[in-house]
Amino acid sequence: MVQGSAVATHLPEISFWRPVLKMRNAKITTFLILVVIVSVSFLSSVWIDTSKFLIQNPTNQTMIISETHKSTPQRIEFPLECCTGNQTQTCPTNYPTTYQTEDFNRVCPDYFRWIHEDLRPWRTTGITRDMVERANATATFRLVIVGGKAYVEKYRKSIQSRDVFTIWGILQLLRRYPGRLPDLELMFDTEDKPVVKSRDYRGANSRGPPPVFRYCGDKWTMDIVFPDWSFWGWAEINIKPWHGILKDIEEGNKRRKWMDREPYAYWKGNPFVADTRQDLLKCNVSEQQDWNARLYIQDWIQESKQGFKQSDLANQCTYRYKIYIEGYAWSVSEKYILACDSVTLLVKPKFHDFFIRSLQPVHHYWPIRDNDKCKSIKFAVDWGNSHKKKAQEIGQAASRFMQEELKMDNVYDYMYHLLNEYAKLLRYKPSVPDGAVELCSEAMACPASGLERKFKMESLVMGPSISSPCTLPPPFPPNILATFIKRKINSLNQVEKWENGYWEKFQ
Ligand SMILES: *[C@@H]1O[C@H](CO)[C@@H](O)[C@H](O)[C@H]1NC(C)=O
Ligand SMILES: *[C@@H]1O[C@H](CO)[C@@H](O)[C@H](O)[C@H]1NC(C)=O
Ligand SMILES: *[C@@H]1O[C@H](CO)[C@@H](O)[C@H](O)[C@H]1NC(C)=O
Ligand SMILES: *[C@@H]1O[C@H](CO)[C@@H](O)[C@H](O)[C@H]1NC(C)=O
Repeated sequence: MVQGSAVATHLPEISFWRPVLKMRNAKITTFLILVVIVSVSFLSSVWIDTSKFLIQNPTNQTMIISETHKSTPQRIEFPLECCTGNQTQTCPTNYPTTYQTEDFNRVCPDYFRWIHEDLRPWRTTGITRDMVERANATATFRLVIVGGKAYVEKYRKSIQSRDVFTIWGILQLLRRYPGRLPDLELMFDTEDKPVVKSRDYRGANSRGPPPVFRYCGDKWTMDIVFPDWSFWGWAEINIKPWHGILKDIEEGNKRRKWMDREPYAYWKGNPFVADTRQDLLKCNVSEQQDWNARLYIQDWIQESKQGFKQSDLANQCTYRYKIYIEGYAWSVSEKYILACDSVTLLVKPKFHDFFIRSLQPVHHYWPIRDNDKCKSIKFAVDWGNSHKKKAQEIGQAASRFMQEELKMDNVYDYMYHLLNEYAKLLRYKPSVPDGAVELCSEAMACPASGLERKFKMESLVMGPSISSPCTLPPPFPPNILATFIKRKINSLNQVEKWENGYWEKFQ
């Protein structure tokens, strides 16, 4: 471990994270060292090795080291401590486990209610060790949290760095809310498609479904949906962490006003992962036809050679309409498309991730049939171009949802509540299994290199959150859920009716 003075060790890291704090002159540095010396003399060591943290006062941007017994919580920063040379990276033992937070009594966004629905299969039986062990049939890794520390046992190779960034995300959650997550044990499957079929677990003789965490679910399965790896970055195709993307797309949205964008529906992706995508390509503009669609094939190999210039997400809000279509299962492209304030044309999906179930057709997106895509797209674009105000509102509603309800703060709170509710159902006390290793941000980020390291450093949670997690809303009362689903079906039917009426004119 690097054991320099607190100032020498931490300043570069802090200025990297928050450039406004750059020391502008020697005076401030001198002042700082003085403050360090003065405060160290009266710092209490009740709950933390005090040489290791700095507190930042956000209002006057003075960095101080301070006592913890303040009435208003102070933000504590805890940069990574990477070992120098070839020493084995160890996990820190001095990360705070108690800290002050402020409770803003903020209720979580509505989509958090699906947490209750996803855990409903175990509501009465609880989750037994046997159920968890059976999830091993497909799991990529087992993750155990005991005493606030994370231990991972790896079973299978994951696609690219999905497992790495998923575990990284959970470690960041532990940094954000240290000491607040209960002991738990879970199995995570990083493959695309859900596997726990409901029909296999009906009847009194069933041993109960195994709880399998993954990135998406569908109507026929009971897998538990969890935020996907790309919220922390997708190194292989240069997609940076979500909080940075949100800022870029916000800028991108301003770059070209909706009215000045191409009045067509745009899609760019890999068509070879699903028949439905190949089917979509038939709608591309040609000399014989124009269904208002402009479709392109994403060639990742070519793009990686050119440094991904063509796939810059912020530069893709140049069309008024953007098509979202599932691939092998749900696709991570969904959140990038919805964040753009163009109208999302959502080809009828089979799968859902953790937030999409709360979005409403015609309010957040425009629904496209999967069995007659070209006509459906042609109508959607014509409708939008003749109802420009409404079309822009749809684009903005989705963009706002992504910027606000799906900002990282809420993604972490979703994970917190999901894991918390899951842990309440466990009918046994989890323990660290043989073969599991302790993982911490240091162990994962320090040895990493290239884009993987860059994205980890960008998505590093700098310290405990000063605000408590939002309050989890209760389960949907049955009638509310029914009303919600009915409203959704009504909107879908309404659009189909408009669409039929539109095409009848041409017959
Ligand atoms: C800046 O913050 C420090 C520490 O909280 C405080 O002592 C000082 O008075 C503040 N200065 C101003 C100008 O608010
Ligand atoms: C670690 O590095 C030092 C010098 O940098 C070298 O002498 C030593 O052999 C290295 N140890 C291992 C285990 O690689
Ligand atoms: C889980 O599955 C893996 C891969 O099939 C296997 O190697 C491992 O022994 C299993 N673990 C348990 C506890 O069943
Ligand atoms: C779709 O049509 C455009 C315009 O002609 C063309 O540039 C593009 O390559 C076509 N896309 C595909 C997948 O063929």
